[in-house]
Amino acid sequence: MPGKQEIVITAPMYPPTLAALDADFVTHRLWEAKDRAAFLAPLRDRVTAITTMGETGADAALMDALPKAKIIASNSVGVDAIDLAAAKARGIAVTNTPGVLTDCVADLGMALALAVARRVVEADRYVRSGQWPKGALGFGTKLGGKTMGIVGMGRIGQALAQRAAAFGMTIAYRYYEDLAALAKASDFLVLIIPGGAATRNLIDARILAALGSKGYLINIARGSVVDEAALVKALQDGIIAGAGLDVFADEPRAPEALFTMDNVVMQPHQASATHETRTAMGQLMIDNMKAHFAGKKLLTPVG
Ligand code: 8YV
Repeated sequence: MPGKQEIVITAPMYPPTLAALDADFVTHRLWEAKDRAAFLAPLRDRVTAITTMGETGADAALMDALPKAKIIASNSVGVDAIDLAAAKARGIAVTNTPGVLTDCVADLGMALALAVARRVVEADRYVRSGQWPKGALGFGTKLGGKTMGIVGMGRIGQALAQRAAAFGMTIAYRYYEDLAALAKASDFLVLIIPGGAATRNLIDARILAALGSKGYLINIARGSVVDEAALVKALQDGIIAGAGLDVFADEPRAPEALFTMDNVVMQPHQASATHETRTAMGQLMIDNMKAHFAGKKLLTPVG
């Protein structure tokens, strides 16, 4: 197809975004390939861009298989699954989608705190399973008057702080050099920091013990930020009161030990998964690619 740039899409995306990509580019769906190498080989001299999702990213091998791709446009704010050093070494621009997903991710952070503290999911199961006529469910925990410790005070962390303050919560973040001190001071410890080597297993048994038996861990960042085995043990042993988790170490799998825990609320990495936000993310990703091909300034470059 003369004139259209050819791009590889590494993973399934919001269907309207895929449709927009199909309209503007010649697209190749890598996730549908049975033989990745055989799929990529004929594209080596044709593909000029890679689009990806936050969990999928792009490694050096993919970059080397598509040497004419000089932009990696991620449909995510997190780029920890992209080998940024490899991209830089190959002169490949990387873009992401910050800002447009701030509200929805912050909303889900509050939703998880409410759901786990007020036992919303457990209570729904309680009614659906016919337990209610046998007696009342019991009690949850009020958010107002409690302290939310936010690990990661970027756009999303600040939006979350506004929401928590509206619920009458006290916000703790920059006053604590030591993460254990922040955890100790928090009733809800919310993670919204980038994934990657620098934050891997940042939340470990020591931090969870500091959060304590009345504390809740909320993770809307990356599964890699938490020592997941330590989290499972802390929940099993009552070291912490509960957890609200949107992200996991080995997505799309979550630790099966959590499946039977009523004090854990889990979501399948849904924080930005609204029609409105995924539309905006997809458009920003496409706008970055179009700017790249037009030789214009990228809208949201990484690094
Ligand atoms: C994305 C996210 O849905 O933006 C991010 O970093 O984690 C989510 O908003 C996910 O990465 C898929 O792209």
